[in-house]
Amino acid sequence: MMNQLQGEVIAAVAPSSNLGDYETTYNEFKWEDVEKEFSWSTTGRLNLAYEAIDRHVDAGRGGKTALLYSDAERDESYTYEDLQLQSNKFANVLRNLGVSKGDRVFVFMPRTPELYVSILGTIKVGAVVGPLFEAFMETAVKDRLEDSGAVALITTPTLLARVKRDELPELKNIIVVGNDVPTDDGLTDYRSAMSEASSETEIEWLEREDGLIIHYTSGSTGKPKGVYHVQNNMIQHYYTGKVVLDLKEDDIYWCTADPGWVTGTSYGIFAPWLNGATNVVRGGRFSPADWYQTIQKYGVTVWYSAPTAFRMLMGAGEDIIAQYDLSSLRHILSVGEPLNPEVVRWGVKVYGQRIHDTWWMTETGAQLICNYPSLPMKPGSMGRPIPGVEAAIVDDNGKVLPPYRMGNLAIKTPWPSMMRKIWNNPTKYEEYFRIDGWYISGDSAYQDEDGYFWFQGRIDDVINSSGERIGPFEVESKLVEHPAVAEAGVIGKPDPTRGEIIKAFISLREGYEPSDELKEEIAKFVKIGLSAHAAPREIEFKDKLPKTRSGKIMRRVLKAWELQLPVGDLSTIED
Ligand code: WT7
Repeated sequence: MMNQLQGEVIAAVAPSSNLGDYETTYNEFKWEDVEKEFSWSTTGRLNLAYEAIDRHVDAGRGGKTALLYSDAERDESYTYEDLQLQSNKFANVLRNLGVSKGDRVFVFMPRTPELYVSILGTIKVGAVVGPLFEAFMETAVKDRLEDSGAVALITTPTLLARVKRDELPELKNIIVVGNDVPTDDGLTDYRSAMSEASSETEIEWLEREDGLIIHYTSGSTGKPKGVYHVQNNMIQHYYTGKVVLDLKEDDIYWCTADPGWVTGTSYGIFAPWLNGATNVVRGGRFSPADWYQTIQKYGVTVWYSAPTAFRMLMGAGEDIIAQYDLSSLRHILSVGEPLNPEVVRWGVKVYGQRIHDTWWMTETGAQLICNYPSLPMKPGSMGRPIPGVEAAIVDDNGKVLPPYRMGNLAIKTPWPSMMRKIWNNPTKYEEYFRIDGWYISGDSAYQDEDGYFWFQGRIDDVINSSGERIGPFEVESKLVEHPAVAEAGVIGKPDPTRGEIIKAFISLREGYEPSDELKEEIAKFVKIGLSAHAAPREIEFKDKLPKTRSGKIMRRVLKAWELQLPVGDLSTIED
């Protein structure tokens, strides 16, 4: 089990000045000390949007650039004051539509400044934000809006076509951002509503335990789970922004994640603005040239991305790096899946920087185990729990295991940004806390004698493809809707660039014959019905799928077939 890379250590190149007191008092660390840095600790008036935007304006920093945005057509810059006024307007637009505290308001649109303004405005009225990936198709969109009981949605004319309005009675208002907004009932034109709205608003003052955001994420069974987070998260967003992202006031920070994913909100919106940094948002798709151009153009200093992107950049080679000036970079971080040691070494070589791995989950709301700047790095390790967080490897009975023993990666409860519920599903929520005093992550890992954690894999069947978490059940459910598919079992197959790809094993209905055309058609069916990232990249037809006597498809047997490993205990198999 011991990792062969265990011996390798890369010293901290830039000890974090921000960690400062927090690290020296590692053992006496108190979250209450972090809380004192928020305005509500003295005023009692609490709202994350105020804390992230308005507070800086009130402190005389309104002229500072908050958002630098560009895509193929637009190139814009917004100060903190601009965002304050725009989000006030949007809050008024929502109020005029009758939206109020606790309502769920979803955003389904590409990364544009309007998306950020919508999210901030939603928080200002005390409503709960629900971000959706732009890539989602009809079923994925409907499932999430329905489960959450969303009352309003902000989208674009193109994406509106994927919203099954007649099947969503609770969705009373849709705000459409773009040209040629249709004039149907229930549709509001963002631009005209914004131009009529006042730029002054009454911020809804909230409690720490009031709702903030619901991120839908996948598990191994059932539909996606609505992970519900509260305002209290801001404590950890702010603190990790400071000690892990190492944000300082003059930083130009770029998080490459989409807000459809928790990284794109916790670290693409909240952490940078709570820390008063300048936040870069780049619309459009991944391309090495575009990305390096973005770093050069804005002089990005702190950059947070994902292993799959770093691997693709590595694949794009060093010649392209030589064409850009990337000397502004001083701190690079990664999240989402295991960060390969060779990527870390490559980063040191080509960027002159260690790429700092961070571990956390949608459910944890913020970073927990990290290579923070002052920590000597062991490439391949996720790092150590940050001050304030306690992690351990426990067995299924909750016994803490000694170094090098593999087991459940568990976090001592509570921490500020821990999820507070799974929407509509208390049973699922409780499963995470089935061992007293611990949150059970679903990841397996071990710890070394220096307290570093080493990721080993998922305990369940959840697939991690290019850092996106995909539930096999959701894909299987879509597959069996196809007329040719009798049964389907879906697994993650190891892939050098994407971490894993989705592979589907399919048995066909009577009258259908296996063919490459059929494979393509089935993959396309999932792509159109669910989303591109959920579509299987590989399909294999089988006469029969391995099932338990209770009829459950045994994904672990499919995986063993794929990897040519022993299939293990088959006592529950059907025949
Ligand atoms: C799962 C959570 C919160 C943003 C990350 C994605 C995997 C995450 C790492 C890492 C190895 C990682 C885990 C985890 N994961 N970070 N640094 N090393 N694996 O959030 O979609 O909720 O997925 O991603 O398996 O459980 P998510």
